Amino acid sequence: MTALLVTGGAGFIGSNFVRHWQARFPGQRILVLDRLTYAANPATLEQLQALPDVTAEVGDIADQERVSALLRRHRIDTIVNFAAESHVDRSIAGPATVVVTNVLGTQALLEASRRVWLQQSPRRSCRFHQISTDEVYGELAVGQPPFRESDPYHPSSPYAASKAAADHLVYAYGRTYGLPVSVSHSGNNYGPFQHPEKLIPLTITRVLQGATVPVYGDGLQRRCWLPVATHCLGIEAVLRRGRAGGSYHLGGGLELSNLELLQQLCGLLDQRFQAQPQLAAEYPLSPMARGEPAASLLRHVTDRPGHDRRYGLDTGRAVRELGFAPEAGSLAELGVVVDWYLRQRPWWRYFLPDEAPCSQRRQPQA
Ligand SMILES: NC(=O)c1ccc[n+]([C@@H]2O[C@H](COP(=O)([O-])OP(=O)(O)OC[C@H]3O[C@@H](n4cnc5c(N)ncnc54)[C@H](O)[C@@H]3O)[C@@H](O)[C@H]2O)c1
Repeated sequence: MTALLVTGGAGFIGSNFVRHWQARFPGQRILVLDRLTYAANPATLEQLQALPDVTAEVGDIADQERVSALLRRHRIDTIVNFAAESHVDRSIAGPATVVVTNVLGTQALLEASRRVWLQQSPRRSCRFHQISTDEVYGELAVGQPPFRESDPYHPSSPYAASKAAADHLVYAYGRTYGLPVSVSHSGNNYGPFQHPEKLIPLTITRVLQGATVPVYGDGLQRRCWLPVATHCLGIEAVLRRGRAGGSYHLGGGLELSNLELLQQLCGLLDQRFQAQPQLAAEYPLSPMARGEPAASLLRHVTDRPGHDRRYGLDTGRAVRELGFAPEAGSLAELGVVVDWYLRQRPWWRYFLPDEAPCSQRRQPQA
C-alpha cells in the first residue's frame, strides 16, 4: 500500500482511522474525501490536514468522475470506504438519504475503482475495503450464538438495509469484475470525535447541559461496545493480511444493555464532578453542579420502531487469519471517553448551534 483514499475521513471512525494510519505508517500518503455533511465537524478535517502526508478534498463519493480523477492524480491503490449516512433514527425518519449515499454512493465509488484500477497497464495491486456493520445480520435471539461471516443478512432498519445493499454490491464487483474487495463488520464503536447524536456522546453532552436523556423502551437492548482504536487495528489487519473477497468480523468489546451503559456513564460523570469541583462552574446546568446524580435525567421514552434487541459477532475468522485481538473492553476506557467530552466542549458544541453559552442561560426553575 502506498496511497490510501479514506472516504468519510472527517467523521467519527474515519478520522480516528486516519490518525491511526498516519501514526503507524508515516510516509504513506492519505487522501481524505468527505462531503462534510451535518455529521462532520470541519475542525476535524483541518486537524487531519495538518498531519504530515495527509491531504483532504471536500466532495461526494457519488461523484464518479471526480473520484476517478482523484484515484489517477494521487495514484491511490487502497480505498477504505467509511462514508455513509450512519444514524439509524435519521434513516427511519427519511430513508431516501441512506439509499442515495450508502447504496448509490458506494456503487459510484466501486465503478470509479473498476474503471481506473482494472484498466491500468501494468495492473498494480489494489484493494477496495468496505466498512460495514453488525446490523446487517439483524437481531440476535436470546441464547443464539453470535453471527458468523457466512450467515445471511436480515437487516431491520433502512440504515442496516442500505449497508447490506452496499455490501452486496461490493461482493458483486469482486465476483463479476475481479475487483479486489474486502468487507469488515463491527459493533458499536466508542471514542473521541463522535457526533453528539450518538448514544454515548448524546448522554454525556445532554447531562452536561442539564437536558433529559431518552432511554428507548425498557432500555434492555444489548450491544457490544468496541473502542474505536481496536476497530482501527482490526481494519489495519484486514488491509495488510485480509484475503481479496474476504469478509471479517471485528467484534468484541464491552457487552452491556443500553440502560446499563447509560447508568455507567452517569456514574462516571458523578465521579468526575466529585473529583473535580471546578466542573460545576463549567457546566452549571448539569444536575451534578447541584449535587444531584446524573442519572436523575434518564427518561424512558417510546421504543424505536423495529429496534433490534441484541447484536453479536463471532470474531474467530479475524483472530485466526489476521491475528486480530478483540478486547473485552473496560469501564476505564469508557472513562477516558467521558474525559474527552468534558475537555472538548468547543468541538461538540459546533453541532449544537442553538445552545446558548451556559453562562448566558437561566438556571432552570426548581
Ligand atoms: N459508529 C459506529 O459505531 C459504527 C459501527 C459499525 C459500522 N459503522 C460504519 O462505519 C462508517 C463510519 O461511521 P461513523 O460512525 O464514523 O459515521 P459518521 O456519521 O461519524 O461519519 C460519516 C462521514 O461520512 C461523510 N459523508 C457522508 N456522506 C458522504 C458522501 N456522499 N460523500 C463523502 N462523504 C460523505 C460525512 O460527512 C461524515 O464525515 C459507516 O459506514 C458506518 O456505517 C459505524
